[in-house]
This record gives sequence, C-alpha cells and structure tokens, in this order.
Amino acid sequence: MSERNTIAIVDQRSASASSAALPRIPDTITLPSGLLSDGLGRPLRDLRISVTDRCNFRCSYCMPKEVFDKNHQFLPQSALLSFEEILRLAQIFVAHGVHKIRLTGGEPLLRKHLERLIEMLSAVRTPDGTPLDITLTTNGSVLARKAAALKAAGLNRVTVSLDAMDDTIFRRMNDVDFPVADVLAGIDAAVAAGLGPIKVNMVVKRGTNEQEILPMARYFRDHYDGHVILRFIEYMDVGATNGWRMDEVMPSAEVQRLLDLHFPLEALDPSQSGETAERWRYRDGRGEVGFISSVTQAFCGDCSRARLSTEGQLYLCLFAQQGYDLRSLLRQPHPTGRPYTDDDIAAAVGLIWQERDDRYSQLRASQPASSSASGRRIEMSYIGG
Ligand code: GTP
Ligand code: 5AD
Ligand code: SF4
Ligand code: SF4
Repeated sequence: MSERNTIAIVDQRSASASSAALPRIPDTITLPSGLLSDGLGRPLRDLRISVTDRCNFRCSYCMPKEVFDKNHQFLPQSALLSFEEILRLAQIFVAHGVHKIRLTGGEPLLRKHLERLIEMLSAVRTPDGTPLDITLTTNGSVLARKAAALKAAGLNRVTVSLDAMDDTIFRRMNDVDFPVADVLAGIDAAVAAGLGPIKVNMVVKRGTNEQEILPMARYFRDHYDGHVILRFIEYMDVGATNGWRMDEVMPSAEVQRLLDLHFPLEALDPSQSGETAERWRYRDGRGEVGFISSVTQAFCGDCSRARLSTEGQLYLCLFAQQGYDLRSLLRQPHPTGRPYTDDDIAAAVGLIWQERDDRYSQLRASQPASSSASGRRIEMSYIGG
C-alpha cells in the first residue's frame, strides 16, 4: 500500500499575501541590460501576471469549494494592480529580458476590460524592437464571447484548461456544473479568431479523470487538423489547500505509454529553452501533444519564469513561500519623500533575480516519493499557473 501524505485543508493565501518582503534598492543603480541572469545562470524571459484572484470554477486541485466558499475573502479592488501599474512593471521586466507575457488568474477573463490591458501591453517592444508574445491561460468559460475582441486587442494566443470530454466528469471536476460543450465552443471561437497555436491543458488525476486521456486525445486529433496542442499535466503539490497525494499523480511516462499504444508518437525537439512541456507528435501527422512532468521530471534547470500576483507581489517560483512587494514601490514614496523611479524599481528587480536560487520541483524530486515539502505555500489561483 502506498504511504499517504495528505496536506491539511486550510486557506493560507492571505497570510502569505501580507508577508511579502519590501524589495531592497541597491546603493548603486545599474540600468537593465536585457541580459539579467539568476544565481543559477537562468535568464528572465517569461513574466506571468495574475490579473484577478477570482474564478467561476472550483476545481478541487486548485480552488476547492471547502476553502474558497462564500466566506472566502477575495482581494478588494483597491488591492489589485491597475492596468497602468501592470504596464509600468511589465516595461521594467521587458527591459530586463522578458519576451513573453502570460495573463493568468484565477480566471483572467473575469477581470473587467482586460482587452484594454492587452492593447497596452501589445504596444510594448523589447530592447531590440520586437513585440512581446502575449498569451493567456483561461478555463474557456467566456472565451466564445471574447475571443474575437481579445485577438483584435493584440493577444497572440490562448491556452485553455480542460480536464475531460465526458460531461459528468468535467462538471464534477470544475465543481460548478459547467458543461464541456461551452468550453469547446470557446476553443472553436479561439481557432476562428486566429489565437493559435492553441494549447489545451489537461491535469491528469489518478482516480478522477485518467479514463479521459484517450477521449481527449481522440477529440483534439480529429477536430482541429493539427491546430490544437493537447498537453497532459502531472497533478502538482502546489498550494496548501488541495490535499495533494502522490498516489493521485499519474506520471507522464505512463500517460505517454498509453497514448503511444493507441496513437503512435515520435519525439520533437524543444522549440525553445526553458519550456514546461516535452513535445511529441502523432506519427500519422495528426498534430502535436505535450507532457508537463513537474513531479516526475523537474524542469527547474532552465526556468526563466517570474510571477506577478494580482496585488503586485513578485514570486520567483510557483512554490515560493514569500513574495516581494513591488506594489509598495509603485504606491509609496521613497524614504526621502520622492516617488520611486523606474530605474529604482528595475534595480530592485535586478537584485532580486540575481539572488534567485529557487528550484522547488528539482529539490522535491530528491525527497521521498510520497512527501510534499511542508511550510506555507502560495495558492496557484493567487499567483497564476
Ligand atoms: P507555453 O508558452 O504556451 O508553452 O506555455 P507554458 O507551458 O509555459 O504555460 P502554461 O501556463 O500553459 O503552463 C502549463 C502548466 O504547466 C501550468 O498550468 C502548470 O501546471 C505547469 N507549469 C507552468 N509553469 C511552471 C513552472 O514554472 N513550474 C512548474 N512546476 N510547473 C509549471
Ligand atoms: N497541478 C497541476 N496543474 C495545476 N493547475 C492548477 N492547479 C494545478 C495542480 N495542482 C493548472 C492547470 C490549470 C491551470 C489554470 O493551472 O493547468 O489548467
Ligand atoms: Fe479556476 Fe483554473 Fe483554478 Fe480551475 S484551475 S479553479 S479554472 S483558476
Ligand atoms: Fe521554476 Fe519553481 Fe517550477 Fe522549478 S518549481 S520550474 S523553479 S517555478
């Protein structure tokens, strides 16, 4: 029998949120070179911005109903970064080397006037004059209505979460009785709007939806002529509320073996370094699939992702226990009474990244298979996937 390690169901998000460190401004300000790298030599390329901590789903692995109920205190509007504040920070990160921005949540499409933020971000250029790769992770619930406007605003592509083709299983997993058909309509609308390559993320939980692996593969092979990339994600021990257990993780190697038996696969080269997914394609030419294996095969070695929470805290790892309060630098004066300048903030971010040595999944892999590190951890719905 496998040893069980269940994490207590408690909401620790607000405690974590209030314990962010105030970033230090170095004595000598050096301007960003676009070539920042961290303590392990990893560049800063990818910024994930959470634009709301709210979601209309209650997936048990992310926002379980027992915790995120009607008494749960979501952030007040005044705590959220405004679009102008987000743009200011994004420009600073881009000066340090960020090329890709992913908008996340909660559910990012619940943030009012998100198209406006996308328009603002799409005008930003990297130091060598290239537009950013702007993308968004969504549960797809309102995508059918919004896809065209998002594209018009400058969004390049979307990733849609979908854990099952079977309506009963999906409704149970999102725990708000949301139907599969509406998410599929969202995916169709995104394809029609040209928001490709569209990725579909399926978190595989043993005992919950592993029987959906083949139906999901079959559907996305058959319907989109290779334009939709399905990715299988190992259920992670992220956050502190989902009661994660190792025996509910289905290792990617197992998913891959099953898939290969029915739809033979061949490996593809990575398209860029720092990618989360291992890429494969169907030998019969029906498109690509990916495997995201952060539990069984950590990909911290070239992790170039920084995360900005809804209230403007910078996190260096999905599993970080503490953030850095960038919002204070935007809203509060310097001790001398003047506002912080962009150069001050860029120097603070530079220092934080240079000192970064986070590699949670890699370290976790060297621990006993059934364990998950204890300690206060940030929720994925707060920091974004
Ligand atoms: P693309 O640029 O489209 O390839 O996106 P991506 O794979 O970088 O981002 P996405 O948000 O689609 O990530 C997919 C899933 O991978 C997330 O929902 C997480 O489950 C997991 N993931 C993403 N980034 C990280 C990370 O830095 N560490 C770990 N451990 N898991 C991650
Ligand atoms: N394990 C793996 N992925 C998760 N996500 C949320 N919680 C988890 C978890 N515990 C990811 C899923 C979802 C996205 C919003 O966040 O990919 O699609
Ligand atoms: Fe919402 Fe996505 Fe979390 Fe599900 S996984 S509760 S859709 S943020
Ligand atoms: Fe990056 Fe942390 Fe994920 Fe490792 S666990 S890939 S360091 S975010």
